[in-house]
Amino acid sequence: MFAVISNSMKTAVLIVIICQLCCIHAQSKYHIAPYESNWFEASEYCHRLGMRLAIADSEEKHNAIVAEAKAAELHASGFFGVWLGATDLARSRNFIWHNTGARLRYSKWDEGEPSGGDEHCVVLYYWPTQGFNWTWNDAPCSTELYAICENLGKEGCVQEF
Ligand SMILES: *[C@@H]1O[C@H](CO)[C@@H](O)[C@H](O)[C@H]1NC(C)=O
Repeated sequence: MFAVISNSMKTAVLIVIICQLCCIHAQSKYHIAPYESNWFEASEYCHRLGMRLAIADSEEKHNAIVAEAKAAELHASGFFGVWLGATDLARSRNFIWHNTGARLRYSKWDEGEPSGGDEHCVVLYYWPTQGFNWTWNDAPCSTELYAICENLGKEGCVQEF
């Protein structure tokens, strides 16, 4: 009897440890899509993976996303853009992180951006010939760019979707 309880407790402890490990792993994880798509498809792509378009609401997160984008080495050609999870489609000039509803406080807009017009989705660009050096721009949401997804992290192993 004692041995049985002990074994099931061991199993329970093991499951908790494994879960913790996967959550810790999940918290720092970004993923860049293998193909370019418009902003909506990018968002849907992340959701299908149980992730969401990356939210860069601090300098640390912006830097982590830049590091991830640099590591993908797709910027070698001199043009590389990843969709971030922000848009002002609902109300012009009022940029919102779509998956949380939070307004943008931190931002890394390039000089003169956001420029408005029909540009409503936020992209992180490396495009030196146009002056973008891992800085943000508002682009038409139909532009084909890479999704950068992030794990949800804080909720542990429970997914919000
Ligand atoms: C981009 O910015 C970094 C850091 O400030 C700088 O070292 C680099 O030369 C810049 N690259 C371009 C292409 O402007």
